[in-house]
Amino acid sequence: MTVYLFFLFLIFTTTNASDVPIFLRQNCTTNETFTYNTTFQLNLRTLLSSLSSNATSNTQFRNATVSGGSPSDTVYGLFLCRGDVPPQLCQQCVLNATQRLGNQNTDSCKFAKSAIIWYDECLVRYSNRDFFSTVDTRPRMRLRNTANISHTKSFLRLLYTTLNETADEAANSNGAKLYATKQANISVFQTLYCLTQCTPDLSPQDCRSCLSGVIGDLSWCCPGSQGGRVLYPSCNFRYELYPFYRMDSPEPQGIPSPTNSTIKKGEAGKRGISSEIGTVTFVSITVTGLWWVFGT
Ligand SMILES: *[C@@H]1O[C@H](CO)[C@@H](O)[C@H](O)[C@H]1NC(C)=O
Ligand SMILES: *[C@@H]1O[C@H](CO)[C@@H](O)[C@H](O)[C@H]1NC(C)=O
Ligand SMILES: *[C@@H]1O[C@H](CO)[C@@H](O)[C@H](O)[C@H]1NC(C)=O
Ligand SMILES: *[C@@H]1O[C@H](CO)[C@@H](O)[C@H](O)[C@H]1NC(C)=O
Ligand SMILES: *[C@@H]1O[C@H](CO)[C@@H](O)[C@H](O)[C@H]1NC(C)=O
Ligand SMILES: *[C@@H]1O[C@H](CO)[C@@H](O)[C@H](O)[C@H]1NC(C)=O
Ligand SMILES: *[C@@H]1O[C@H](CO)[C@@H](O)[C@H](O)[C@H]1NC(C)=O
Ligand SMILES: *[C@@H]1O[C@H](CO)[C@@H](O)[C@H](O)[C@H]1NC(C)=O
Ligand SMILES: *[C@@H]1O[C@H](CO)[C@@H](O)[C@H](O)[C@H]1NC(C)=O
Ligand SMILES: *[C@@H]1O[C@H](CO)[C@@H](O)[C@H](O)[C@H]1NC(C)=O
Repeated sequence: MTVYLFFLFLIFTTTNASDVPIFLRQNCTTNETFTYNTTFQLNLRTLLSSLSSNATSNTQFRNATVSGGSPSDTVYGLFLCRGDVPPQLCQQCVLNATQRLGNQNTDSCKFAKSAIIWYDECLVRYSNRDFFSTVDTRPRMRLRNTANISHTKSFLRLLYTTLNETADEAANSNGAKLYATKQANISVFQTLYCLTQCTPDLSPQDCRSCLSGVIGDLSWCCPGSQGGRVLYPSCNFRYELYPFYRMDSPEPQGIPSPTNSTIKKGEAGKRGISSEIGTVTFVSITVTGLWWVFGT
């Protein structure tokens, strides 16, 4: 209930400023901790500030290593922004995440040697273990939209097919981003929106196998739901019946391009903002039907 109210609070405090990152969850190791004023803490601070300063450049993924002191004092970390998140929001998200991680006063994460934090728009994690280029599937989290879907069977078939196609596309996207989105028509009136993403330090094969795992958790996450997501440290998926990600806006074909590029940019910006407000509004309407479930 507390979490639920907190989420409501977040939604209503973020509807005005549409460019505020939305915090989802933080999970830390409780079995390994460091002590105050040690080299490890110093290295962690350096790492977090390096990540947040690196997010200021136009980049959506960065890994970093800070060593010093003994080998066990080395800290590894990375941030990843969702593939459609514009640079400034990415930067804000990473900044907020690193500040939360660096704030060692929160009960659950006091002096944890590794931690992960998920937002709608980004994830940040650090560890005393070199986790780069490895598929990590724990801890995981799920989030479901409690609005139910009718005609479940045909919907599920379409959902699995589309998620699989999105996963193939993300794994084979040859750019640095292992990210893809896909839409499918459920009916004339309903469209399915899917998104998958891996951390770009994974190989295409590892990305696909991570996504197979996360898609395999669909029945754990949100059977019968109109929307849901499963997040692993290394990859995640989300689906909804409304557009929750920013569409790439390729030049419409057959329509002459506007000659004034300033106006063109303005229109694209407006479209982005209004679709975002649409999403937030939708969430605030349906939030009464949202509940949170977490697991191992
Ligand atoms: C802490 O837990 C993780 C997994 O939960 C395990 O891999 C690691 O070895 C544990 N560390 C210690 C010191 O027990
Ligand atoms: C932290 O460590 C430094 C040097 O090791 C020491 O000078 C300082 O007093 C310590 N601070 C606290 C609050 O313990
Ligand atoms: C990333 O951060 C490190 C350490 O602060 C810095 O040396 C490096 O230049 C930064 N890179 C970018 C692209 O900002
Ligand atoms: C980033 O990760 C790669 C492996 O994916 C590793 O080789 C590289 O050293 C890492 N870079 C930093 C700055 O930690
Ligand atoms: C990070 O987000 C939280 C909640 O959204 C907010 O209370 C906090 O002020 C933010 N911090 C920064 C530095 O933006
Ligand atoms: C964090 O993740 C671990 C491993 O998956 C899980 O056992 C633990 O319950 C999680 N902690 C919280 C606070 O959710
Ligand atoms: C959705 O279905 C579940 C069981 O499958 C049920 O418990 C829940 O109340 C339903 N939610 C709504 C909003 O109908
Ligand atoms: C989706 O892919 C998995 C393997 O990654 C496969 O087992 C499953 O049958 C596929 N489902 C559909 C509907 O294509
Ligand atoms: C969905 O339907 C619209 C027209 O109703 C069509 O233009 C579009 O290509 C369809 N999309 C897919 C993925 O089939
Ligand atoms: C586009 O329009 C803006 C304002 O309407 C004007 O300032 C600008 O010079 C125009 N640019 C071009 C390339 O015509």
